[in-house]
Amino acid sequence: MKAEAKNIIYKELVDKDRLPEHIAIIMDGNGRWAKQKGKLRVFGHKNGVQAVREVSEACAEIGVKYLTLYAFSTENWNRPQLEVSALMELLALTIKREIKTLQKNNIRLNAIGNIDSLPEKSREALKETIEATKQNTRMTLTLALSYGSQEEITNAVKNIALDCLADKLKPNDINPELIGQYLYTKNMPNPDLMIRTSGEHRVSNFLLWQLAYAEFYFTPVLWPDYNKECIFQAIVEYQQRERRFGKTTEQIHQ
Ligand code: IPE
Ligand code: IPE
Ligand code: MG
Repeated sequence: MKAEAKNIIYKELVDKDRLPEHIAIIMDGNGRWAKQKGKLRVFGHKNGVQAVREVSEACAEIGVKYLTLYAFSTENWNRPQLEVSALMELLALTIKREIKTLQKNNIRLNAIGNIDSLPEKSREALKETIEATKQNTRMTLTLALSYGSQEEITNAVKNIALDCLADKLKPNDINPELIGQYLYTKNMPNPDLMIRTSGEHRVSNFLLWQLAYAEFYFTPVLWPDYNKECIFQAIVEYQQRERRFGKTTEQIHQ
């Protein structure tokens, strides 16, 4: 009840005319959340799904156009095999189960990362849901899966070099816009706001190129406890900041 009353306040404080167009979130803290409850880490991952639902709905509801969620990093493959397979199972199951809700909310699903490295079941579920929701226009929900920014940039550099060798490109054509076109995110604007939960203050190989001018917001809340109220609060704080993009305050207010 109390949380709900607070939720309404934050939602009302959001200025709909100055929304971040793209929010990127490092969903962290599932393991610690479970540990605090004396449960296995997988229990935390399972409970993280509800937070994904809430945050996606909240963002679509107020008019955010792009939401990108870091769900599994290239480094996460190094976790215990049991946890990795449980996460992959959960991914396949959740994606299938959520098709209806995505359709109802007019949300398009997208994925970035080394999708080919995912187990077939998860890959198929992803493909199916991406295909089924591709006409939806309200918001693009992107899952970063087996995603690593350094790998993404490495691949971009390789492909640019190959295109140069194939005479499709000249080294002089290479500029930041062109590099952006070789990244997984080529059809998306860069994130305006990056949120990380669980009190960690690092980027952990997430969107290193794309976050160049994003506002960073850190919260101690563990991911399974993250809800609509939390995301609205982050947006309100984002709207209180001045984004200067290298300029001076005076220039911004000209
Ligand atoms: C985030 O929670 C989910 C993934 C990385 C898959 P963690 O599993 O990293 O939880 P903590 O950081 O150990 O608490
Ligand atoms: C980052 O979380 C990756 C995801 C949230 C998917 P981690 O928990 O893997 O990050 P580190 O290892 O603490 O930096
Ligand atoms: Mg973690």
